[in-house]
This record gives sequence, structure tokens and C-alpha cells, in this order.
Amino acid sequence: MKNSSIKNEYLKKIKLLHKYNKAYFDKSRPLITDQEFDRLKKQVFELEKKYKFLDHKKSPSRTIGFSPSKNFKKVKHSVPMLSLSNAFNEKDLLNFEKKIINFLSLSKLEEIEYSAEPKIDGISTSLIYKNGFFVQGLSRGDGKEGEDITENLKTIKDIPKVIKAKNFPSEIDIRGEVFIQNDDFKNISEKFANPRNAASGSLRQKDSKVSSKIPLKFIAYNYGYVKNMKINSQSAFLKHLESWGFKVNKFNAVIKGVNNLILNHKILEKKRKEIEFDIDGIVYKVNNFDLQKRLGFVANAPRWAIAHKFSANNSVSTILNIEIQIGRTGALTPVAKIKPVNIGGVLVSNATLHNEDEILRKDIRIGDTVTVERAGDVIPHVISVDIKKRKKDSKKFIFPKNCPSCGSLTVKDFNEITKKLDAVRRCTSEGFECEKIAIEKIKHFVSKEAFNIDGFGKKIVENFWKTKLIKLPYDIFKLDYEKIKKLEGWGKLSVSNLKYSIDSKRSISLDKFIYSLGIRHIGLENAKLLAKHLKSSDNFFKLSKDKNMMELSNIDGIGETQIKSIKNFFSNKANLEVLLELKKTLKINNVVSINQTGVLKNKTFMLTGKLQGMSRAEAKSIIEQNSGKIISNVNKKLDYLIIGEKPTMRKVNNAKELNIKLITQEEWAKMLDMTS
Ligand code: IVH
Repeated sequence: MKNSSIKNEYLKKIKLLHKYNKAYFDKSRPLITDQEFDRLKKQVFELEKKYKFLDHKKSPSRTIGFSPSKNFKKVKHSVPMLSLSNAFNEKDLLNFEKKIINFLSLSKLEEIEYSAEPKIDGISTSLIYKNGFFVQGLSRGDGKEGEDITENLKTIKDIPKVIKAKNFPSEIDIRGEVFIQNDDFKNISEKFANPRNAASGSLRQKDSKVSSKIPLKFIAYNYGYVKNMKINSQSAFLKHLESWGFKVNKFNAVIKGVNNLILNHKILEKKRKEIEFDIDGIVYKVNNFDLQKRLGFVANAPRWAIAHKFSANNSVSTILNIEIQIGRTGALTPVAKIKPVNIGGVLVSNATLHNEDEILRKDIRIGDTVTVERAGDVIPHVISVDIKKRKKDSKKFIFPKNCPSCGSLTVKDFNEITKKLDAVRRCTSEGFECEKIAIEKIKHFVSKEAFNIDGFGKKIVENFWKTKLIKLPYDIFKLDYEKIKKLEGWGKLSVSNLKYSIDSKRSISLDKFIYSLGIRHIGLENAKLLAKHLKSSDNFFKLSKDKNMMELSNIDGIGETQIKSIKNFFSNKANLEVLLELKKTLKINNVVSINQTGVLKNKTFMLTGKLQGMSRAEAKSIIEQNSGKIISNVNKKLDYLIIGEKPTMRKVNNAKELNIKLITQEEWAKMLDMTS
């Protein structure tokens, strides 16, 4: 048989499989029996084995089951599923503890007790139990909303379905990791890149029968919502989990002091290869629940926990080319295209060179033999050059002085704090005039944390840009769907899905809206601060008329750098045009504060001097929890200046002049006592 007819035969079979799959998973209406389906699948495998040139992205050897997810019901987590901040070295760890000690205003000599738990690289899951019955299981999703994967989770033996223990809370959501052991993975390794993918793929199968065929395990480590639980530490909670029938990690330990954490990290890192599942670090949690509660959260990670990652994997490769990428904020980032190498199970063909200074410092050149490192989720990067292997005719890499996309001049900003020039070179064209920046801005606009438009990935942005469907963010809401239908890879269904995703995002919260604009130095946290302060989109748009933006300096957390950047943003014509159009098209929701019933409602505070037994950060968080507001300047809007030890006299005098009430820490505490 000729190769072309073999290929035709092969494609026909794949098309059929796809059709049967769709009927089975999407419509729950099987067209053939399971046996017939398996036979067809086997034929495809055999063809691929015999004829190495056969390959297709829809081949059953590359996918299992049918694209899932769309079919799962989305459910809101009663308590968000957060992520953890990372520590990569001793310094990060010492910093973590220092912050805790400062926040809690503890003595430096105090040894904090931690629950140290090996971090399994799997899929985090939330299991909801009511009156001892496992009633619903959710995937993490975006942390706020997960997918209902109950049926698939029920097939996992490690997950207790009924718990009879008397002390098991009447309502609790137990959190833990679903994963696959390394020896089980060996048997299916040709279908997945790594054990984590295997677990994820299997968990999100529409058909729980498919999940049940892959031996998934579950280890519990945490809880979200709980009703009436009287346990006061993480280690005691882990013991209870075991007594209720959950598996916990056998390497969990209670450890005091950073030095012992480091020792434990070293021991486990050595043992890592012998452990029957993949671990990528150790999670440290402040053991005492009362302290955890006081510490609370920053952004979407707790202050009381951190993941101490294991060191990265390295490989040696050669640099084929150095390309300059242009980011959303105009930063020129050199990227080394390297000869593909496998680093810890992932094929790496790009490695970042960070910036111009890094290239100069390490004298990195095209053709060089380099060591590339890939650590966790961090982008692979070049760590060193093997100069001995360098060819004699190799030339220094010359960094472009003009933007490779729009030709504008590039500059290095002067950093007021370090009094040095920035390491990063930037394109001077502001915003949408530079094609590459504009594309990156749109990618950011539709990204998960911004407008979160389902199915509108980076590739689609690039494709729509090329076909002139979009040029500015608001074009997304005015797409010519008839034109898209005619593009390669698009059909009636996919276009209607896209339209649905876009239309469902015409209403957005103010913080997400501000974040989506991609203003330099305004990340999620700052966008939240701005939204909380400004309250409405009208107030935000009004900023364009306020040359000084003085009112922003009252926001605790927003500094000169941010204000300068916002001013810059509003001084650009194209940005104003984009804002105007978006305003017409979207419904930007005003901020409604959740807790506006606290005793400090409508009251503003400022702190000066050291407080007793409490850090400034904790005081701030207490004020906010009770609906009060913190401002960072003495002005007419200030109601109370809380005076601690050794206050700044200038602030005290200013406050006196403006007739602002001066209160002691005790008086402030009394105001709070009224709550109970
Ligand atoms: S606690 C608020 N404990 O690590 C605390 N997480 O980046 C959140 N993980 O999504 C999680 N082992 O999938 C916790 N013993 C452990 C863990 C663990 C693995 C994963 C989990 C989470 C991610 C955080």
C-alpha cells in the first residue's frame, strides 16, 4: 500500500473515533459498543506503531477520552482554594519567618512551630461531606469556582464515601491532592507527558469508567469550610484526618525553627527519588490555628504557609538563535532558542535570557553551549555558558537599540531607588502604536485574571490580529463572527461558543477592569486597592482629568511609582480612546464592600509609632476587617490618628492643626471591643 493511502485509512479511523467519542461524551448517546470502540482504537495504535510517519493531534495515543471540562458543572467554592507562595532558598525562608514574626510582633528569639508536609505534584481537590457522607467533589478551577467531578472522585479508593466517626464535623470540605504513583504511571506513560497530566486528564474525564481505570490516589492535608470543629493545630488536624479514614502523607512532620526546616528539606530532597510519588517541595504551615487566623492572607496566598521548592533540574544545550520578545509594558526580553532538551520530563526549546545586562554579564552568544535550568513553574533560563566549547569565530551578541517591532527608540529607565539605570530596555512607543505591545496588551486583556474570556487564548489573539479582526481591546466586543467562521479551524459551533464566552464577559468588576488595562505597575493587588478606593468606573475615568491625582496618594499601598504610571497611562491619547469605547460597550460594576457593617464603618485611621504586641500590618488588617479605612497621609479626610510608641511628631502636629482626633492604642482597642 502506498503511504498516502495508509495515511488516508489512518485519518478515516481517527475521524470515526472522534465522532463516536463526541456522541458518547458530549451527547451521552453511544453509537457503537465499548468493544467495537476499543477495537478501532487498537487498530489506530497498531498503524502508528507500524508506520512511524503517522501522527495526528486527535489520535487516541495523544488524547484520552474527549475534550472534557465543558461538560462539567461549575460550582463556587464555599471558601476559595488558594495557592501558596514559593521559597526557593534559605533566604526566602528566613524572609518568610521574619515577616511572620513582624506581623505578629513576636520576639525574634521565638521559635515558630511548623507542620512540614511534602508537596505532592498532583491535582488539588475539595471533597464536601455532609453528615458523614461524601456529597460533592470539586476541582480547584480558578480557585473561586471549580468543576463538579464527584462521579470521577467516587472511583478513587482512598476517598472515604461514608465517615461514621462521632467527632467528624457535620459539614466540612476536606482538601487534598489527587495524584498517580510513579509505578502506576509507568504503565500509561506513553499517553501522558508526566504523572500530573495523567492524574488531571483522568480526573476530568466525562466518563467515570475511564477514570476508574487509572489508579488514582488521594492524600488529605487541609480543609475549607467547616462547621463546629474544635481542633487547634494543623498537626492535630492531620491526626484527625487519619482517624476519619483519610490517607495523609507519611513524611509529614512537626518542626521548630528555620534551621531544622532546612535540614528536613535536605533529607527529603535526597530521598525524593525513592518516594513512590512525585514531590516538588515541602509545604510549611504555621502549626497553631490561632496564629494562622491572625496572620490571614495576602492576595491569593496565606501568610502562614509557604512551599519550599526543591532545586531545579538542569540540562546542557546549544543556543541556535537569540530572539527579542516585546512584552506588554514594552520590555525587550531576549530569548534563547535552544536545541530541544528534555529537562525533568519536559521538552524545552526556549530559555529566557532575562534582559540586556544579563547577556552582557554572562557574555551569552549564538552558538554557545549553555546550561539551562527549569524550576517548577518558572520559565526555563540559561544559568551558565561553557566558554571552553565556544568556537573561535563566535561574535558578541549586539542588543538592538531600536524596537524590533515598531522601530522606535529603546531606553533604559533611571531607577530612583537604586540610582542606577534599569537592566531592562524598553520600547519608547506608548501602548498601542507598537504592534507587538498592542498584541501583548490584548493577550493580557483577555487573560484569566483579567476578562477571563474562555477559549480566547494567545494563539487566537495572534491569529485575529493577523487577519485584522482585532487591533484594540474593544474590537473583541465587536467581532465579525461571519468572517471568523470562514477562517481555518473555525466552525459554526466553535464560533458560537466564542461569541457566548465574549458576551458573558460584558459585565465586569471594577478591579478586574482596571487590571485588564495592563497599566504598568498595576497588578491585581494594586487594581483591587484602586477599585476599593474609587468605588465606581466614573471615578476611575475622572482620573484622566485630574492632573495631580493627589487623592490616589491617600491609598495605602499605592506609591509614587504607581501614580506616575497611572498618569502616564491617562496622558496617552490611544488609551483614552480605548477607555471611552470600553465604557460604551461594557457594564463596569461599582464596588460594593462586603463588610460594611463593622464598628469602624465610615471611619478613617492612620497609624504613627510602634504598637504594643501588634505589627502595623496586623493593625491595618484589623481595621479593614471592621470596615474601617486606612489612609497614609494626614489630611482633612482623616478621622483618627492612632499614636503608638515614639510617634512621628510632624504627623501628630499636623493632625492637631487639622483638629483630628488623636487616640492611643488602648482607646482604639476600646472602639473595637464594642463589637462583642
Ligand atoms: S495547603 C492555603 N498543603 O500546592 C493552603 N497544599 O501551590 C493551600 N499542595 O494547590 C494549600 N501538598 O495543590 C497544601 N500539604 C499540602 C500540599 C499542598 C500539595 C498543593 C496544592 C495547592 C498547591 C499550592
